[in-house]
Amino acid sequence: MISAVLGMQFGDEGKGKLTDFLSDRFQVAVRFNGGGNAGHTVVVNGKTFKFHLVPSGSLRCETVVLGNGMVIDPHALIQEIDNLRASKCKASIKISKMAHVVTPMHKVLDRKEEEIRSKLSIGTTAQGIGPTYEDKYARTGIRMIDLLSAEILREKIDTIFRMKESLLKDTEFSSPSARETMVLDLFRSGKLLEPYMEYTEVTVRQLYDEGKSILFEGAQGTMLDIDFGMYPFVTSSNALAGALSLGAGFPFRKVDYVIGVVKAYMSKVGAGPFPTEIQGDDAHNLRELGREYGTTTGRPRRVGWLDIPLLRYAIKMNDADALAITRLDTLGEMDKIRVCVSYKKDGQEIDYIPRTFREMDDLELEYIDVKPWGKISESLIKEHNFAVLPEPMKDYIKLIENHLKVPVDVISLGQGRENTLVRDGSRLRDQEPFLQDSDQSL
Ligand code: IMO
Ligand code: MG
Repeated sequence: MISAVLGMQFGDEGKGKLTDFLSDRFQVAVRFNGGGNAGHTVVVNGKTFKFHLVPSGSLRCETVVLGNGMVIDPHALIQEIDNLRASKCKASIKISKMAHVVTPMHKVLDRKEEEIRSKLSIGTTAQGIGPTYEDKYARTGIRMIDLLSAEILREKIDTIFRMKESLLKDTEFSSPSARETMVLDLFRSGKLLEPYMEYTEVTVRQLYDEGKSILFEGAQGTMLDIDFGMYPFVTSSNALAGALSLGAGFPFRKVDYVIGVVKAYMSKVGAGPFPTEIQGDDAHNLRELGREYGTTTGRPRRVGWLDIPLLRYAIKMNDADALAITRLDTLGEMDKIRVCVSYKKDGQEIDYIPRTFREMDDLELEYIDVKPWGKISESLIKEHNFAVLPEPMKDYIKLIENHLKVPVDVISLGQGRENTLVRDGSRLRDQEPFLQDSDQSL
C-alpha cells in the first residue's frame, strides 16, 4: 500500500507519533517538505525521540528517504543520524542530492527578516527555512550535492552573500574569513553525508516497482501551506498531500490511502489568524494538560477548540480518505469542551475559509458544547477496543465523522505507540504489520 500522513491543522497534530505507529506496516518512509522547523515526537517504551529531519518511521522502516523538497541543515542531520545509530536503528538512510542546504547564514537571515517584518513578523522557528527556500527559487540555492565541492560552495555562498548583503552586513558573515570557515565546515559535513546521497526519486520509484509499501510523512499542516494556508503566517513550502509529487518525485496518482492527522483540539505556534483560539483559564488548562510547548522552539502554543469548517477544507485540499484523531486523552480531561461547527457572515453560513484578519473581523463562529469524558485509565487504553471507550468520547468521534463525512480510522489515547487503536473496517487492517513482536527492539 502507498500511503501519506498529513497534518490537517496548523502543524503539531501528531504526525510523528502516527508515522512511528504505522512504521511496522510500511517498509519505506519518505519526507518531502520542510526541514528543521518540523518537530516530531515519538515515544517508545517510555523513551522519547525527537525528529526534525529524518522521517519518524526511522526506528522501524527498512529504508527512509529525505526527499528533494526538503531543506536540510547538514550538521543537524549528522547529529540526528548519530542519535539514531546510537539507538541501534538499522534503517538505510537516503538523502536527495537535490534537497537544499540550510547554512548558519540562512538562520541569521531568518532572524533578520523577522526583525524587518516587525509588526508583520510570522513567528518563524528561526531554523533558516524561509531564506533557504528563497534561494532555491532565486536559483542561487545550495543543494546537497554541492556540499561535495568546496569550490562550488565558495561561489554559492559568495553569491548569496552579495545578494543579501544589506541584511548580512553587520553580522559575523560580513567577514570573508567567517564565510570561508563556513565553506570548509559545510564541505566536511558533505563528506560525512556523501554515502547517503542519491537521486532519491529513482530510489523511491525502484522501491515502488519492487512492491514495497511506502509511507509519505508530511511536515507542518494544511493551514501552514504557502498557497492554501493563512498567508503570510505560513511556512515557505507546500504542506498538502499533493506536495509529495514534487517534493519526492513520486506521482500522487499512485497513493492509495491518505490519512489526515487531526488533534482533538487546535493548536498553533507563531502569529496569524486562528478562528477558534481560546484565552484565559480554559486556554491555560488545555495547554498544561496537553503540554503544548513547541518541540522545535519550546514556545507555548496557542490553543483552541476543534474547528470543523477548517477541517472540512483541509480534508478536501488533501483528499484525505480517513482521519487519525490524536490527544483524545488530553481533551477529555477538560471540564468543558466546545466544537465550532460552522462559520457565518451576516447570519449566513459561508463555504470558504477566510484567510486574512480583515475577513475574520465579521466572522461569526457557531459552537456546540460536548460532554467531557474525563481521564481514561491505562487498562482501558490497553484493551484496544473501541466498544469499551467512554460514551461521550465515542459521541465526539461520531460528531466528527458525521460533520466531515470521513471515517476516523485511528484513535490515539496517549504518546506511546501502544496507546493507539485502529478501528475495525479501516483500510489499515488490510495492511498487516511486517515486523513480529520479537523484531520490535525499537
Ligand atoms: P510540524 O511538522 C507547528 C510555523 C512556525 C511559524 C510558521 C513559519 O512539527 O507540525 P518557519 O520556521 O517554517 O518559517 O515558520 O510556521 N511552523 C510550525 N508550526 N509545527 C510545525 O511543524 C511547524 N513548522 C513551521 O511556528 O508560525
Ligand atoms: Mg511538531
